[in-house]
Amino acid sequence: MAEAIVDIQDLNGVGPVTANKLREAGYDSIASLAIAPIRELIDKAGLENSVALKISRAARETIQTDFITAKQLYERRKDLQRLSFASSNLDKLLGGGLETQAITEFVGEFGAGKSQICMKLSVITQLPAKDGGLEGKVLFIDTEGTFAAQRVYQMATAMQLDPEKILDGIIYSRVYNSDHQILTVDHAFKICQEEKIKLLVVDSILSHFRGEYIGRESLSERQQRLNSHLHKLLRIAQALNLAVVITNQVQANPQAFFGDPTRPAGGNILAHASTHRVMLKKASQGLRVAKIIDSPYLPESEAYFQITEKGVEDAAPKNRRDD
Ligand SMILES: Nc1ncnc2c1ncn2[C@@H]1O[C@H](COP(=O)(O)OP(=O)(O)OP(=O)(O)O)[C@@H](O)[C@H]1O
Ligand SMILES: [Mg+2]
Repeated sequence: MAEAIVDIQDLNGVGPVTANKLREAGYDSIASLAIAPIRELIDKAGLENSVALKISRAARETIQTDFITAKQLYERRKDLQRLSFASSNLDKLLGGGLETQAITEFVGEFGAGKSQICMKLSVITQLPAKDGGLEGKVLFIDTEGTFAAQRVYQMATAMQLDPEKILDGIIYSRVYNSDHQILTVDHAFKICQEEKIKLLVVDSILSHFRGEYIGRESLSERQQRLNSHLHKLLRIAQALNLAVVITNQVQANPQAFFGDPTRPAGGNILAHASTHRVMLKKASQGLRVAKIIDSPYLPESEAYFQITEKGVEDAAPKNRRDD
């Protein structure tokens, strides 16, 4: 963003003690304060209601987030950048590549290729724009311990890149429970800004939440925490013009009489928070098929790809007489 970064202590209402509390809670910049919900400033930084309100207002005024014209909104979309999958099928499916300023969710059964796509995108993000990249680094938040540095090394080598340089450009964080995951994202704004992160991955978004909140009585608390977590991710994407990718599993859909017997986990909260949703499925002949299932402006369509040494690549189903 174009605004000059001034210290949070320059804001009206922020003295050294408050500034410390805010920094400890992960609010290091005016922008991070301007996009934080007031409730969160109260809960996380231990501020009084009136102080939080005042600070939030001052931060918003400084970077003028409150009212913009539709033309400004349109201009902002012009800053939007696209990250290539190095697969023209997948690029086309997503309207020219993965968008910044948005959350893209890959959902599918185990082995469908979600983590492979995350790792592949982590490589391409670092390439120059002419090669489909975003010329930035990656923040990879791994909740299941499935990120494999050696696999990224293999992909980079197969793409004739310097694998060690690529690995250096990926900042990795293994998170062990949902509190840890939430805290990591709460503190991600600063690192994303300082390290010029252009892709933030959370693989996978729900596993800890699903494992920790069991039973109907805890569902609404889970969904509330998930909601605020997802909105934080979206605000980072929008404020810093970076791409956010999350992965999600499918669960049984008891309401399906015909058609797909599975649906994405996470309910409406996740469905609404993701800007674009891509369903991945294993298909015959070792292929994978990706399908847009929920997007404000992308048409519903399908793309075939395969998982290879290079990561993911285009594929086409071979016609067989028995199909
Ligand atoms: N080097 C490689 N070459 C070809 N295929 C590979 C390679 N590495 C992994 N794969 C394939 O990728 C698949 C695993 O995909 P991935 O880990 O992305 O699944 P996922 O969707 O993340 O599943 P989960 O829900 O279990 O996390 C395996 O089926 C494996 O065959
Ligand atoms: Mg995975």
